[in-house]
Amino acid sequence: MTKISLFDTHCHVNFPHYTDDRDAMFDRMVEAGVERCVVVAVELEQVAELRALSEARDNVWFSSGVHPNHEVENEPTLDDILNLADHPRCVAIGESGMDFFRDSVNADIQESRFRTHLQAARACNKPIIVHNRNADEATIRILKDEGVETCGGIMHCFSSDWATAKQAIDLGMSISFSGNVTFKNNPALREVATQVPDDLLLVETDAPYLTPVPYRGKRNEPAYVRHIAECIAEVRGVSLETLAAQTTANALKRFKI
Ligand code: NI
Repeated sequence: MTKISLFDTHCHVNFPHYTDDRDAMFDRMVEAGVERCVVVAVELEQVAELRALSEARDNVWFSSGVHPNHEVENEPTLDDILNLADHPRCVAIGESGMDFFRDSVNADIQESRFRTHLQAARACNKPIIVHNRNADEATIRILKDEGVETCGGIMHCFSSDWATAKQAIDLGMSISFSGNVTFKNNPALREVATQVPDDLLLVETDAPYLTPVPYRGKRNEPAYVRHIAECIAEVRGVSLETLAAQTTANALKRFKI
């Protein structure tokens, strides 16, 4: 196996899916050439455990934020998000954004929550990790409105069309692809992956979800980001080594590591 160094920019390995084998999972990640990852928050109550994971390992970082579909009793305030982000290993705000596919939280609340996260990202100058599902227009409108250019951001698990990617790219945002880019029925998404500029391309697993081919249907884990990178390298006509070096450099720059 050629020596490569990949960066899984988005995973949820704090979830109970990994309770029985978390240490082994981190070992497999490094063995697969995935030398770093960011564990992304979906609720503020989890941020302490994300911080503990990152403090225990020098190749794990974390984020602070609340997922757009997460139902909470009290909406997170700017200070709530910023207080938990105030740590040298917290490298991003999120995940936040808009989700009109699963609307367990109504659109107005999602929007005000997303704006609060963008204000937090600007205030601490960390990139925002953006979740967008069936909400291209609203997501781009709010990103523009809140001046995402000043903090930078990542369109996580990108699943939209090129027109949407282009608008995010024009705002200086990175485009991150997860396992769904490897799915047989998704040639349009692979086509988008060929068009993203070299310096804005990222890879992620979103583990435990969206497991890439050939493990589709099983639990996902950061080691498998290698399969996503292989797929994108193939469609872009570059070697895995080139793609790994580029996306890892991009991630280190985006997260200011
Ligand atoms: Ni996620």
